Amino acid sequence: MSKIQELQSKIAEAQLGGGQARIDSQHKKGKLTARERLTLLLDEGSFEELGMFVHNRNKGMTTDQEQFPGDGVVTGYGTVNGRLVYVFSQDFTVYGGSLSEPHARKICRVMDLAMENGAPLVGLNDSGGARIQEGVVSLAGYADIFYRNTRASGVIPQISAIMGPCAGGAVYSPAITDFILMVENTSYMFVTGPNVVKTVTHEEVTSEALGGAHTHATKSGVTHFACANEVECIRNIKEMLSYMPQNCEDTAPVYPYEGGNESRPALNNMIPENPNQPYDMKEVISELTDAGSFLEVHKDFADNIIVGFARIAGRSIGIVANQPAVLAGVLDIHASVKGARFTRFCDAFNIPLLVLVDVPGFLPGTDQEWNGIITNGAKLLFALSEATVPKITVTTRKAYGGAYCVMNSKHIGADLNFAFPQAEIAVMGPKGAVEIIFKKEIDTATDKEARMNELVADYTERFANPYLAAEKGYIDEVVSPEETREKLIRGYKMLENKVVNMPKKKHGNIPL
Ligand code: COA
Repeated sequence: MSKIQELQSKIAEAQLGGGQARIDSQHKKGKLTARERLTLLLDEGSFEELGMFVHNRNKGMTTDQEQFPGDGVVTGYGTVNGRLVYVFSQDFTVYGGSLSEPHARKICRVMDLAMENGAPLVGLNDSGGARIQEGVVSLAGYADIFYRNTRASGVIPQISAIMGPCAGGAVYSPAITDFILMVENTSYMFVTGPNVVKTVTHEEVTSEALGGAHTHATKSGVTHFACANEVECIRNIKEMLSYMPQNCEDTAPVYPYEGGNESRPALNNMIPENPNQPYDMKEVISELTDAGSFLEVHKDFADNIIVGFARIAGRSIGIVANQPAVLAGVLDIHASVKGARFTRFCDAFNIPLLVLVDVPGFLPGTDQEWNGIITNGAKLLFALSEATVPKITVTTRKAYGGAYCVMNSKHIGADLNFAFPQAEIAVMGPKGAVEIIFKKEIDTATDKEARMNELVADYTERFANPYLAAEKGYIDEVVSPEETREKLIRGYKMLENKVVNMPKKKHGNIPL
């Protein structure tokens, strides 16, 4: 065999991972292989593999352990829509994608390259966890990855797709990264599996119910996306990358945009006359942003707040918006944490923020108080206050009480604050306010209901509007809804070169 033939045969062997039988078994489970996933993710022909021939020389529990070139993970770099990304893709056909010392070293290598060269890292996870035969060196490998994930946080975007098992300590690498995507029915994440759960807590639960995509998308919020299949998962990764810069010193790509008539008359009829009637804030978003550009993140979790990426005149923005169609858009623990985390991603990566406000306040009750709405609500306040990217607020209707302050008010550093004429910026809603400040008067009135209605009408007229806030300069402009898109385009352009110097510090102490 010539040297070149020898090379080709080694490559062919490595590309088969754990062998055809295991590849067939992977396909039977409805899963793609590590290499097939990379082919879908990266631009055609752009993948450059690193460490294809890495072997595992560690002596495990048995001396006759089978060896596979690559040791269960495919690593390297390539491009997505022409832009550099670093990747690792765990190969379940080799020891269940479990993490050995050389496997971890390969992942760390691409992480180091991603940091040094300032490009995103995408991890495709499909692994049975620590390589059991190896013991502590495998655990050390995890810790090396976690450390790098943490160092890279806020420097380069990090995206984790979970495309099979991800259990035990392994979950903490995706957890530190910026976004997690899971695949329905074929992926799960948990700290301990159903058997351990049964032993310790006597609960009987399936893997899917304990840590499947649906569970983490709706109950825990651990995953930002629950995808119907692997193809959809990879499509979401690619789309998400299109809104992001390569690193924290870069800005997001600008897409070609042909200006035109920016008036959106549909917005004039979107906010119902009755302040208690719900409407869908996503319709407002789709009028304000470039057609079809809104990519919702964390869609199935805390849907009383909406977060996601979009474009305005071709430029990326991050949106944080109350959703009056769900729980009247109230802020609760989950909504606050969801909004805060997304805000911090956008701020870390120079993506301007648009905050849409229609919020009746924070959710009352023992459940919220005992679970820490104070600390958790403060996260959103902290994140928005701390963000130095261009920040624009549009108050479409209610902005009541502490939630007014939190939702990117002028006082916490918003650059431009617009309000629709329907906006009600006040300490609380008219009825609640009247019940408190006119309690005695209503109690002693002969016709309590009539007096109450009179006082509510008077309060509404005097306070439930945007003009008192505009008189103080807290609202820069009360705008006709149809003109808002034009205002946003001009506003972001005006703020394009915004620079804010933060006071010298090591880092802030966001209330965790
Ligand atoms: N270390 C070494 N090998 C592992 C492994 C691990 N952590 N997890 C799986 N494997 C191997 C299996 O021995 C099997 O090898 P084979 O192809 O030579 O038969 C292969 O990976 C596939 O595993 P299998 O159990 O057949 O797949 P499955 O889809 O039925 O189950 C898991 C997948 C992950 C649920 C199951 O393998 C498992 O529970 N693994 C152990 C998880 C764990 O406790 N990890 C350590 C703590 S972090």
